[in-house]
Amino acid sequence: MIIQKKGPIKGSLTVPGDKSISHRSIMLGALSEGITEVENFLMGDDCLSTISCFRQLGIPIDFDPSSQRVTIHGKGLGGLSSSNDVLDVGNSGTTIRLMSGILCGQGFSSTITGDSSIRKRPMGRILTPLRQMGADIDSTNNDSCAPLNIKGSDMSLSSIEGKDLIHRLKGIHYHSPVASAQVKSCVLLAGLYADGITTVTEPALSRNHTELMLSEFGASVTVLGNTASVHPRPKLTGRKLSIPGDISSAAYFIAAALIVPNSELLIKNVGINPTRDGIINVCRMMGAEISLENIRKDGGEPVADILVRYSNLKGIEISGDIIPTLIDEIPIIAVLSCFAEGKTTIRNAEELKVKESNRIDLIVKNLSYMGADIIATEDGMIISGGRSLHGTVIDSKMDHRIAMAFTIAGLAADGTTQILNPECVNISYPDFFKNL
Ligand code: S3P
Repeated sequence: MIIQKKGPIKGSLTVPGDKSISHRSIMLGALSEGITEVENFLMGDDCLSTISCFRQLGIPIDFDPSSQRVTIHGKGLGGLSSSNDVLDVGNSGTTIRLMSGILCGQGFSSTITGDSSIRKRPMGRILTPLRQMGADIDSTNNDSCAPLNIKGSDMSLSSIEGKDLIHRLKGIHYHSPVASAQVKSCVLLAGLYADGITTVTEPALSRNHTELMLSEFGASVTVLGNTASVHPRPKLTGRKLSIPGDISSAAYFIAAALIVPNSELLIKNVGINPTRDGIINVCRMMGAEISLENIRKDGGEPVADILVRYSNLKGIEISGDIIPTLIDEIPIIAVLSCFAEGKTTIRNAEELKVKESNRIDLIVKNLSYMGADIIATEDGMIISGGRSLHGTVIDSKMDHRIAMAFTIAGLAADGTTQILNPECVNISYPDFFKNL
């Protein structure tokens, strides 16, 4: 893909459905009784992997990719059946971590794995709490990475609040060392099959779509600050839901409008859940002209239209509790920082090293090749803005967010930028280049 500087970006667009919410709609739809109809589902490769894994577990799922509509014929908490084949999550960390929690509550055994990137990502972070819950889960190569083998467990009977309860796992209170929605959600979903309440406390609040959607489907969830709890064995009921546009996808267009002179863009129907809106807060702190219009609620999630104009940006410090709310947006925030006056420091973002690629490494290398003044630190990076960027060849290492962030950098760089393996955007945003 070749990118060259062009005139202002003007007009309006809608971005595809939220990836995190799309995954969860399939999972909770499958575990509910009755039909769940989803609108504006993200037809990206990661979410299609979730669909194919649940089909393998015996859940009928119909969809028409051109309409973004999916129908899940849920079979209830006990309705999954074993798969003869290994479950393949492709590139999707959300699928492997959340599904592992669900699989540990089943009476049958499973093996779950993914592509070469997934097989390098840390799974110890879910093995620890799942084993504390009594699950029999291990990694094939004993390296705390996928493939993961999960042995089905027998039913036990106990009583909670005077009611008999069939369960396979123990309810625990897990203090997670990382602020990760994938870890939190894995444990809460396993908690649906536990003998008592399951609680997760995390060091900072990560995205809360699992908690919101569990409540929407009828589970009893309580949240107090960074602590979320779920009651076991709820009756989940299928429902209709409509998925807001993905703020992580909107972020590339927000950035494009901010750095290409004279741009003005309206991005419609974007999810602005406060556990995901760090990109808006950062843009505002950098001095961006950005406003939220037509704020409303859709399926339990806050939604708005985002109006953004080309702005003079200034460097800022980004660290602490805001990091989980913008973790996937750091590649594009780094690009924005190159166009800001002064220094931007990103700290407490060591999680970037264990995403689809080592994103600290790839961001710093690629922006340096484009002429930016940027250095890597142990837990982030320091960027001194104001130097003009020039085009070069960008190896995305098949990381979708790197490919999209550097495409936007190319729009405001001198000369020609070439993105290698641009098709990796199919993971989260198949129409990215077409929309751009
Ligand atoms: C996700 C959580 C985040 C995020 C990922 C999607 C989710 O990962 O980076 O793209 O859907 O729960 P962590 O929970 O590991 O930070």
